[in-house]
Amino acid sequence: MKHLLTALLGLLFGMSAPLVVAQTSPPTPTAKRTSFKPGELWYDTDGNLINAHGGGLLLVGDAYYWYGEKRAQHQEEGVNVYSSKDLYNWKYEAVALTPATEAQSDIAAGCLMERPKVVYNQKTKQYVMWFHLELKGQGYKAARAGVAVADKPTGPFRYVSSFRPNGNMSRDMGLFVDDDGAAYHIYSSRENYDLRLARLSADYLTPTTQDSLLFAKHREAPALFKQGGKYYLITSGCTGWAPNEASLHVADKLFGPWQLLGDPLTGPNAKLTYGGQSTYVLPLAGKKDAFIFMADRWNPKDLKDSRYLWLPVQFRAGQPTIDWIEQWDLKYFSKQL
Ligand code: GAL
Repeated sequence: MKHLLTALLGLLFGMSAPLVVAQTSPPTPTAKRTSFKPGELWYDTDGNLINAHGGGLLLVGDAYYWYGEKRAQHQEEGVNVYSSKDLYNWKYEAVALTPATEAQSDIAAGCLMERPKVVYNQKTKQYVMWFHLELKGQGYKAARAGVAVADKPTGPFRYVSSFRPNGNMSRDMGLFVDDDGAAYHIYSSRENYDLRLARLSADYLTPTTQDSLLFAKHREAPALFKQGGKYYLITSGCTGWAPNEASLHVADKLFGPWQLLGDPLTGPNAKLTYGGQSTYVLPLAGKKDAFIFMADRWNPKDLKDSRYLWLPVQFRAGQPTIDWIEQWDLKYFSKQL
């Protein structure tokens, strides 16, 4: 009977017109994203997992560039760069800084390049990258800052030098460019007990001797930003890849005094930074007082599989606060302001 019906239908509509069954295809990793989902797998536009850890962003024209550690399971393989115009969808661009093949180089393959940050120097028209450098085979002993430059945001970056700024150990770090164009290197020093700030030379390639202790509270993962004429600084404690409690400091001047405001995070697992560690705070282009807090949820068993936590910063009673939000988009800032 069923076959007869099929035959009849075939005769009536012609065999070339099969019945169309509506199918909803499952979302593919490359489907266009329209929101942030902190902690979830985040694919680039080619469908590969984004590999840019301990990273930072730079706005060039209408495009953002995301620089971060390229990780294998444990090894470090240089600095990756991605680009995006909407902050949700990221195109893989290149390895911005590649480890050297020459064994005697400071950045010989097998070295560690951590927490890379890139800024643009208006005077030299160069993109300048600073990163935490550890020499091959020496664990975390070298405690140096490394510098590289490029003519384009996507690189290739050329390695310039590495050193201990003014003789100080330098591990976790960030860069900050103030409204007057002066740039600063903020870094964990003295076995990470001290957090120091050094003003950079006009070409951003070296630290000046204007370099001083901000506080000695055993903090790392510094993320510095400015809002309403005040400087804010989010840091983590020092527990390696394991998460700990974040803290927020405020100052009227970059070199301090810095005042502790407490933990800026709220909600479930806030006391462990939602399982993450700060890396950068992005000021959103074209939106006043809109900032995105960025953190890494490290997976020490497979570092490349570490996840990204991007969350909006809210100013509650004038103070930066970060709430856990499962999913959000940039319209959030229009609602807030
Ligand atoms: C963390 C640091 C990371 C990485 C790690 C190694 O404390 O923030 O960037 O260096 O230690 O254990």
